[in-house]
Amino acid sequence: MRLNSPQINLITKACIKASRSLIRDFGEVENLQVSSKGPGDFVTSADKRTEKILIQELNKAHPEFGIVTEEAGTINKSNLKNRWIIDPIDGTMNFLNGIPQFAISIGYEENGEIKCGVIFNPITNEMFCAEKGNGAYLNNSRIRVSNKKSIKDALIVTGGPKGGSKIKDKIFSEYINISKNVSNVRKFGSAALDVAYVACGRFDGYWQRELNYWDIAAGIIILKEAGGVIDFFDEDVNLPLKKNILATNSNIHEELRGLLNKKEIE
Ligand code: IPD
Ligand code: CA
Ligand code: CA
Repeated sequence: MRLNSPQINLITKACIKASRSLIRDFGEVENLQVSSKGPGDFVTSADKRTEKILIQELNKAHPEFGIVTEEAGTINKSNLKNRWIIDPIDGTMNFLNGIPQFAISIGYEENGEIKCGVIFNPITNEMFCAEKGNGAYLNNSRIRVSNKKSIKDALIVTGGPKGGSKIKDKIFSEYINISKNVSNVRKFGSAALDVAYVACGRFDGYWQRELNYWDIAAGIIILKEAGGVIDFFDEDVNLPLKKNILATNSNIHEELRGLLNKKEIE
């Protein structure tokens, strides 16, 4: 791999270290799942355990850096210049059900811009990573977005709405509208991997509302470095960490955006 910034090295090592206990925990979930006890709170502790290892590793090298993470919140709030953006397990619901579609996701942000990131599925052993200006990789191979040009041939992925979402109808009407105009739509349950899969050409595009920044921080740089386009739509400026995301192979971006903006379905 030709990525060599100190940050990417650090993130990669932290992911590999944390993945050891995560793999053990996933095996345990599979056992608990068929037992009468069920996985219950075990998942939350797996999230926290993974996050703790990641924070320890990153803090060892840069105790002064800010950290935005899902479970522990914001650490070193005053450092806005250098921040790690961490989701210890993206795809918790999959993890909980013994489905190997989840990942550790870490982005490194400098002056508000994501400079590098890693999305690692420890079960399939797929590590997606990228660094600004140096390309995107899946393990040791360079990746690129698909070359599909027309949305009618496109395979699109999405996620949500969450159980408590107040805009379920809007999300479902968007879903109908898009599914009528593309080849097919999938829902895999890990936003980070959804974006990574667009980056390596498995999907042609992805959209989702009501995401958190840590779900897609690493995905932003991985997709861009793979030649894709990722941006936000309908942003709520009062909620800077909440994101509505559109990510594509770039060819179909405007067409897909047009479908999202269409308020009514015929
Ligand atoms: C979730 C996953 C899921 C998406 C949700 C996210 P979590 O993250 O990315 O695919 O639909 O909006 O919250 O809770 O598993 O870290
Ligand atoms: Ca997440
Ligand atoms: Ca999570």
